[in-house]
Amino acid sequence: MMTEKYQYRLYGRTRGRSNKKINLEDYKKKLNKFKIVKLDKKKDYILDIGTGYGETSIYLSKKYPERTVIACEKYIDGNIKLLKKIDRYNLKNIKIFDGNVNKILEELNIEQYFNAVWIFFPDPWPKKKHFKRRLLTSAFLKKLHTFLKSKGRICIATDSVSYTRSILNIIFENKNLFEWLNQTQAYLSVKDVYDIETKFYKKAINSGRNPVLFILEKI
Ligand SMILES: C[S@@+](CC[C@H](N)C(=O)[O-])C[C@H]1O[C@@H](n2cnc3c(N)ncnc32)[C@H](O)[C@@H]1O
Repeated sequence: MMTEKYQYRLYGRTRGRSNKKINLEDYKKKLNKFKIVKLDKKKDYILDIGTGYGETSIYLSKKYPERTVIACEKYIDGNIKLLKKIDRYNLKNIKIFDGNVNKILEELNIEQYFNAVWIFFPDPWPKKKHFKRRLLTSAFLKKLHTFLKSKGRICIATDSVSYTRSILNIIFENKNLFEWLNQTQAYLSVKDVYDIETKFYKKAINSGRNPVLFILEKI
């Protein structure tokens, strides 16, 4: 599936800070069972980008048992947690892509596969000189648009004020492609709509920040 022309750079960690040893061979073997072989545009998928410790993927899998959730995460410690939870809850509708989301999008045929794309707390890269590392750009939103089914949705949560500002600009630049469904409720928070608390949601709340939720629908 992987191609040589692939050239997106990934920033951030792929391993946790603990020195806990991981048997990579065993990890890869376990991951292999959840590998995406081929997507079928007649089926229903949710792309969960940067699932971290897998909370969003588990939540989506239970909430939408008739859909397949594609958990996309490069963080090995997070994927190990996700694998354990899939096993614990005996979930059958999760696939895992252990790498950069741009890689999977590049390798897919351009078809309308996704009913929804979730991006919960994308890395904020708060320093101005690092803004260019951010996942959410106008070009990325356009790319997602081509893979979404008609009326497909993108859910974005963030607690970063500067990222929120940039997302607002991106939404404005793409107003002919997406309708911002909750624009009259810009104060809308994650828990007003979804009963989920991810690690980064809790971190935000504990630090006194109320995460903002954006729900966009493909026009
Ligand atoms: C701030 S964490 C949020 C984790 C989780 N969604 C949550 O709410 O707790 C962002 C996650 O996105 C992952 N990530 C960043 N860029 C990515 C990319 N291009 N493709 C896939 N995952 C990515 C990081 O590894 C990290 O685990």
